[in-house]
Amino acid sequence: MKVRIINGPNLNMLGIREPHIYGDKTYGDLVAFLHDAASDLDVEVEVLQSNSEGDIIGFVQAFDDYDALIINPAGYSHTSVAILDALLLVDKPKVEVHLSDIDQREDFRRVKLTAKGVNRVCKGGHFNSYLSALTWIKMQNI
Ligand code: DQA
Repeated sequence: MKVRIINGPNLNMLGIREPHIYGDKTYGDLVAFLHDAASDLDVEVEVLQSNSEGDIIGFVQAFDDYDALIINPAGYSHTSVAILDALLLVDKPKVEVHLSDIDQREDFRRVKLTAKGVNRVCKGGHFNSYLSALTWIKMQNI
């Protein structure tokens, strides 16, 4: 099973970016964590990151290249109808993840646009949000 993991804008700045919210681990640490978790669960992962909405839409649209999708659309989660529309065309297990608990922060982060296009949301667990998503995908037995 091949899981595509897409990380959106500013996640490449983990470790530098608001460490009181996102922690002091770097984006490289996250990628290493994801590969370790995938190997423990015996799934194949491909980890992509872009700061550009168009790139993210392209990564989602290429659904022939993956069996399941995990996406952290970052700031686009609250604004992007275009990423939502791309997610809605994918008929495969899809999970949106957030490092932080977007429901316990500013009001604008409670607007969940892209989440309307996924099967499940895992939030507030820092790196473990991704582990919950991978574990749920593994349980789908695809
Ligand atoms: C985030 C939460 C978003 O509100 C924010 O814009 C991000 C990161 C998270 O993982 O907690 O960039 O998606």
